[in-house]
Amino acid sequence: MKLLLLGSGGREHALAWKIAQSPLIDKLYIAPGNAGTANAGENVAIKADDFDAVANFVVAHGVDMVVVGPEDPLVKGIYDYFKQRDDVKHVPVIGPSKAGAVLEGSKDFAKGFMKRHNIPTAAYETFDGTQVEEGCKFLETLKAPYVLKADGLCAGKGVLIVPTLDEAKKELRDMLGGMFGNASSRVVIEEFLSGIECSVFVLTDGKHYQILPEAKDYKRIGEGDTGLNTGGMGSVSPVPFATKEWMQKVEDEIIRPTVDGLAAEGIDYKGFIFFGLINCDGQPKVIEYNCRMGDPETETVMLRLKSDIVDLFEGVAQGDLDKRKVEFDPRAAVCVMCVSGGYPQAYDKGYEITGADIDGSVVFHAGTAIKDGKLVTAGGRVIAVSSYGKDKAEALAKSMEGAAHINFDKKYFRRDIGQDL
Ligand code: AMP
Ligand code: GLY
Repeated sequence: MKLLLLGSGGREHALAWKIAQSPLIDKLYIAPGNAGTANAGENVAIKADDFDAVANFVVAHGVDMVVVGPEDPLVKGIYDYFKQRDDVKHVPVIGPSKAGAVLEGSKDFAKGFMKRHNIPTAAYETFDGTQVEEGCKFLETLKAPYVLKADGLCAGKGVLIVPTLDEAKKELRDMLGGMFGNASSRVVIEEFLSGIECSVFVLTDGKHYQILPEAKDYKRIGEGDTGLNTGGMGSVSPVPFATKEWMQKVEDEIIRPTVDGLAAEGIDYKGFIFFGLINCDGQPKVIEYNCRMGDPETETVMLRLKSDIVDLFEGVAQGDLDKRKVEFDPRAAVCVMCVSGGYPQAYDKGYEITGADIDGSVVFHAGTAIKDGKLVTAGGRVIAVSSYGKDKAEALAKSMEGAAHINFDKKYFRRDIGQDL
């Protein structure tokens, strides 16, 4: 079969790497891809959210399946676009409908959904611009620190965790006053939960689901989880506290009620669900839903997924995912992300990258490009080193060595990935 993968980050390179290993694949296209995905398939210069161009390409090249990496095209409705266009409606899109992607696209919807289906999460209320005073009153009922979330997509910047009540009230006013534009026209205020986070991923065909390897990601720029939030600086799989018993709880209290809840609400959902969980004294609770895989979690999850991912995608498309097998690689995997100096704030691009061929590790490109025949930096998160090990320590040592081996001006990576587990 011919498969088209949409996206251009480290997540997409990891998906492309895995998809390309499938005996079911004759041809893999990635749109738009990056310098790394070009080694797993053929890059196509089409933007992932240009639906007309994507569908025209699918028709022209006889593509049999589209897999969507990032949330943007999903939230904008690529699934529904394909369903409505006669010449592509037979081509399965792996990713939820627009109605399903709202689980990620609206924090208020996600919280309401969890409430309706008794899924454990932080207590919350939502306020709009006419309810500033009510919002302040609600803040007074909570304990510090205060969690304020813009309802809509803000490229990972829409969550504020504020130490004092006065600051929380000020931030609430600013958010409702347009700090994140339309995305913060409504704000979710919720109870602060403390615990270690864990990302759990499933694939669903809308009725059945299969659980993929879990991972922990490292969001802050600085060592010891300090400094600004980033897209993710590294990941580790498996997660030690995600024991068989804990995962059973996650499945019974969170995964199954979510998949059943989507079906009960008539929401068409055939794709990945990413559960951002927090472990509160042994009780898993949902911090957020995403309608896609995580980045850089995918860069370890794909190493630990032993089964053919394209067979799983076919199960999603055909509605018989329960008949497909998911096997995990028993080894540990660790990913370390090399980023541009300055990221997640201003940084420069176009520096030459050398040393990116690393024996014994898998190198996934995130923000890279080829310029005048040379590999150069083209983003904040540049390139990731993922490694297997018999245990976390061995995988970690290999990835650290690999990250140190890669060279470009102002390279930075966190040396403490996985140390807290
Ligand atoms: P989100 O975009 O909802 O995942 O939030 C971004 C980050 O903020 C999460 O990964 C958590 O580290 C933190 N966070 C969000 N909600 C809470 C909460 N209720 N309690 C504690 N931390 C939270
Ligand atoms: N690593 C977190 C995310 O992809 O949202």
